[in-house]
Amino acid sequence: MLRANKLSAFYDRTQVLHEIDLRIEEGEIVGLVGANGAGKSTTLLGIIGINTRTEGEIWLNEERIDGLPAYERVRRAIVLIPERRRLFPFMSVLENLELGAYLPGPRGNRDASLEMVFDLLPVLAERRYQIAGSLSGGEQQMCAIGRALMSRPRLLMLDEPTEGLAPLYVERLFDLIVRLRDDGITILLVEQNVEHVLKVADRGYVLENGRIVLQNSGQALLADPRLKTAYLGL
Ligand SMILES: Nc1ncnc2c1ncn2[C@@H]1O[C@H](COP(=O)(O)OP(=O)(O)OP(=O)(O)O)[C@@H](O)[C@H]1O
Ligand SMILES: [Mg+2]
Repeated sequence: MLRANKLSAFYDRTQVLHEIDLRIEEGEIVGLVGANGAGKSTTLLGIIGINTRTEGEIWLNEERIDGLPAYERVRRAIVLIPERRRLFPFMSVLENLELGAYLPGPRGNRDASLEMVFDLLPVLAERRYQIAGSLSGGEQQMCAIGRALMSRPRLLMLDEPTEGLAPLYVERLFDLIVRLRDDGITILLVEQNVEHVLKVADRGYVLENGRIVLQNSGQALLADPRLKTAYLGL
């Protein structure tokens, strides 16, 4: 579904990704792990086309998209939930969700999408009139995911969605991610929570200093002693 060929990324003149090759097949959960500063967030930003300048090719199915502006990529149903959820804190849960469906296509399905999101995340239905900024951290993350789902993504990229969440919410979030995959949404997941992500991921990549140093099935990576010692410094 998505393929990056020799993708490099830069902030001004500083290169932080070095010709990485990534592939995400339709219906997979792909995990992307690595130490702080390895370039995980930059990879997601490069794919969606914001904040960083890239070189190399990005293909979405048969279409090359690296030359397209971010909004054109979003229109092709690639969605990023960035690090530290960004809700509109002074708007209600419902308004935040509705804003997820602002594009013409998703807007037409808004009511059905809302029903699906409430069904999947009942806590949002209960709290639909609450101001988003007053939700708990876990609820805010659910709201950020709900908003992303309102746009009917085909490829959903999540950057450390469990950051700062209590263990119960971490569990719920991983369950939700698996359910979304089973519903046909393709997922690229960046996580510090290495063991957990590799348990649910169909495949995973390990980034070190902007280079992919290991890739394999989630299970095989978990069993690989190099994962912990050499690359994550654990
Ligand atoms: N806007 C920016 N301007 C300049 N350098 C940046 C910018 N954003 C990130 N970097 C640098 O690029 C490198 C990769 O950062 P990135 O945020 O992609 O890492 P990461 O793997 O997501 O780390 P973390 O686990 O801490 O979130 C780091 O050295 C970082 O300092
Ligand atoms: Mg990051």
